[in-house]
Amino acid sequence: MQTKILTSPQSGCQALIYVLPKSEDLPVHLAEIADRSGISSEVLHRDFTADLKENHSFYTTSGQRIFLLGLGEKSDSNAVLQTCRSFVHHQKKLPAHIGIDLTFGAAEKYAVDVLTGFYLGNYNINFYQTSEKKTAPFAGETASIDVIVEKKEAEQAKQAAERARKTADTLSNIFDLINRPANKKRPQDMAAFMVQSGKTCGYSVRVMEKAEIEKTGLHALLAVNRGSEDPARFVIMEYKPKHKKKVPKIGLVGKGVTFDTGGLSIKGSANMHLMKSDMGGSGAVIGAMELVAKLKLPVHLVAVVGATDNSVDALSYKPSDVVNSYVGKTIEIIDTDAEGRLTLADGLAYVHKNYQPDILIDIATLTGAVIRALGYAAAGLFTQNDELARELIRAGNETGEKVWQMPMWDDYKSMIKSDVADVRNFSGKPIAGSITAAKFLEHFTEGHPKWAHLDIAGTSVTANEFATDRSATGFGVRLLLQFIENQIK
Ligand code: BES
Ligand code: ZN
Ligand code: ZN
Repeated sequence: MQTKILTSPQSGCQALIYVLPKSEDLPVHLAEIADRSGISSEVLHRDFTADLKENHSFYTTSGQRIFLLGLGEKSDSNAVLQTCRSFVHHQKKLPAHIGIDLTFGAAEKYAVDVLTGFYLGNYNINFYQTSEKKTAPFAGETASIDVIVEKKEAEQAKQAAERARKTADTLSNIFDLINRPANKKRPQDMAAFMVQSGKTCGYSVRVMEKAEIEKTGLHALLAVNRGSEDPARFVIMEYKPKHKKKVPKIGLVGKGVTFDTGGLSIKGSANMHLMKSDMGGSGAVIGAMELVAKLKLPVHLVAVVGATDNSVDALSYKPSDVVNSYVGKTIEIIDTDAEGRLTLADGLAYVHKNYQPDILIDIATLTGAVIRALGYAAAGLFTQNDELARELIRAGNETGEKVWQMPMWDDYKSMIKSDVADVRNFSGKPIAGSITAAKFLEHFTEGHPKWAHLDIAGTSVTANEFATDRSATGFGVRLLLQFIENQIK
């Protein structure tokens, strides 16, 4: 899609969209728009109040279609992005050439989010449908956008459009990956995705195959992989800026379970198909990696993903098994459905030991319990480091990917004590499940002073207007990016 920055309100496009935050200047803005369009300003004032997602359309006397699109008051970045994505998604008759007028208070603060939303609006989940679909004109190859801004904002708008393009491309790739069915998303497919992403975005990727995973001693990951016909992969992604100046080193670990049947502690079948998305955490990590590399940020970023499915087989690991781990701590398996924490345990320990990052963050669709606690509106945040908690909460408020801090008191630690091993993978009780999961992970971060765990089971894949079934939100990609950018500011 072509994007041009224009500094005059006259654009030859067939449809012009005025993007309008709700502010005290709105009446003045509407009067100006009415004047330009040759219609009565009373009508506009009556019909449009710029609430979030509100849209109103009419034709000028010369036949140009005008849309007013409301951004609401004090909306966060995600609300603006989703508003614009939703607008394009539902306006199937948008012409191929549109104009977006940002001169009425939307340019400075919202340009990136507005454009990211417009670029993402054509995202389509139906990648395996065989019937020929008629594409909307604006979704076609000739589609183009004129972005209209004031002269003094032109340079900034150009940069905003570039950033929006990069963000939308990455989010769209990550949506595809998370929404992709399990049989097309084996560990080797995940690894191939990361290799390809590294090539296009400019970061290095090392893939460990099963033999090397065994040699390295990632025993907890291997335990989960025992029942699978597809050998696990352990993937290390790394980005370093070209210059030699000292930059913060950040380690990320994403849960990469490509399908979670529960293993022998098998799940019910009702929503099992959604467990194709149990790699949402790795999606977030890969997305953040892509954007850090594309934006060439001054940060040293290391991200790892242990990819495996959790399957039922004669060889599957069993409840009561005691398995080893990368750091040498032994784990008693109580429930094979608590598999994510095993893969993360080895990922966290591996990054900590081999890279000693200043900050260590894991992100995972880890527990149903976090959904019972927080629903679908916020992710659970677990850390003993209050400064890190504040920084993650702030980044989340900025991007609109909200996180809520949960307790990490040692009261919860005794719940996962094992009689026979160093720790067990489940308390056996249906209480405080997301906290005990985090306390389990803590065993494998070996006292890292700046570690946080994000449980995105409720936010990674949700019911939304862009699909009939639950689908990927990309939760975590922009949050991690914002967090990283705040670190280097
Ligand atoms: N992948 C699930 C968690 C999950 C649930 C993600 C719903 C997305 C939506 C995880 O591996 C799991 O099965 N957790 C169990 C843990 C329990 C057995 C200790 C759970 O939450 O029920
Ligand atoms: Zn599970
Ligand atoms: Zn899982």
